[in-house]
Amino acid sequence: MKEASFQQCMNPQCAATFSVQERYFACPKCQDLLDVRYDWDRLATPNSLSQFEKRWATRDNPLDFSGVWRFRELLPFCPHEHCVTIGEGQTILQANDGVAGYVNCNPGRVFLQYEGLNPSGSFKDNGMAGAFSHARMTGVKHVACASTGNTSASVAMYAHACGMKCSVFIGSGRIAYGKLSQALDYGAQTIQILGDFDDCMRRVKEVCRDKKLYLVNSLNPFRLEGQKAIMFRILEALRWQTPDWIIVPGGNLGNSSAFGKAFGELKQLGLIDRIPRLAVINAAGANTLFDLYENQGLRFNGGQVAEKVIDDYYAKLNETGYRPNTLATAIEISRPVNLKKCLRALEICNGLVREVSDEDILDAKAAVGRFGLGCEPASGASVAGLKLLRQQGIIDPDEKVVCILTGHQLKDPNITVNYHCENQGQFSNRPQEVKDDIAEIIAAMKL
Ligand code: F0G
Repeated sequence: MKEASFQQCMNPQCAATFSVQERYFACPKCQDLLDVRYDWDRLATPNSLSQFEKRWATRDNPLDFSGVWRFRELLPFCPHEHCVTIGEGQTILQANDGVAGYVNCNPGRVFLQYEGLNPSGSFKDNGMAGAFSHARMTGVKHVACASTGNTSASVAMYAHACGMKCSVFIGSGRIAYGKLSQALDYGAQTIQILGDFDDCMRRVKEVCRDKKLYLVNSLNPFRLEGQKAIMFRILEALRWQTPDWIIVPGGNLGNSSAFGKAFGELKQLGLIDRIPRLAVINAAGANTLFDLYENQGLRFNGGQVAEKVIDDYYAKLNETGYRPNTLATAIEISRPVNLKKCLRALEICNGLVREVSDEDILDAKAAVGRFGLGCEPASGASVAGLKLLRQQGIIDPDEKVVCILTGHQLKDPNITVNYHCENQGQFSNRPQEVKDDIAEIIAAMKL
């Protein structure tokens, strides 16, 4: 008999199923992406989301403390003794009227989900709690990933916690210093490839295939199970009310894919009655999803994705030697591995895609710094996207909107310091240099 949780190829023509004990990072039959799936009827699921609140009283149990595993009935692939946690998911949802004003929304309607508060400073820790639990459950010794920075930091931290070896592949010169410093500090074997993220991704897949290493990029379906918890925590913080919109930056498209899966499953289980709309925001310098979805009309289409449109698009990128380019290096990706899953999420959530310029990203990031807890450039894309969607009249000023802030303010200090010191934008806050003279100091302070 099939297990109550299993892996399944997302391609409806194939739909092959595999045990959760297997370690694949693509369907071995057709190479498409795999999902973790559940036969919910055979699993103990809650009758209402508010039942999870009882775990607030038992936070001395590490699984109840974890912002991922306290929702474990909604990602039930792993026996509890194998579940890995390092305290991920202690993040907050903040109503932010300063940012609401900046994007022209009404007070009390804009919320920021601060995933930078995770142990490694980004949302990745949610996913790693899932992937490393699967790794531990299946006896993995050595993990690997390609990264624009945050994945490598998170992987290195979890590998250390699990006693596993870890190799991370990063593009030369395309990684913010805060992130690189983490990977090095946490002891990851760091391979810097003369190329960009897409090159690293291609190589790490080859190495993992040949050397049987465990791949922890977001094409690992167990990672996406962990990232569903970001949505569970937003619902929890809103006392189980569904917001109108979720806005998230798009890079490799793991988050957006996971969010769509989360809402699809919650609806299927009758735990929510309405699904929020999803807006995925690309940087204009890395806008594959925007181009394909908004300009070329590519859709999930119930699983019948027009593969030729994607193949032609990538062939063109190869022909022209296109390289993505954005100051938001976290999302500088032109061949997002989860493209098809993201299309599915956009279908589930009646979603849309926008692109925003680096200038708009930096101003939005600075607004989050000025009015909130701060974030890294890629995260600013979600606020810049909201501002654009307000200008376009697509989001109403009174709708309840959650912007995901994916990474911490300290991840990329160079970009921030340049923005302020070089007066690059509307929130620039340049330090003033004065002589060591009390009169000059007081004059400069304009007291
Ligand atoms: N925001 C930040 C801060 C990120 O680090 C990433 C991805 C994204 C957004 C995009 O998320 O891939 O789920 O669409 N960073 C990866 C990395 C690629 O290697 O750290 P996505």
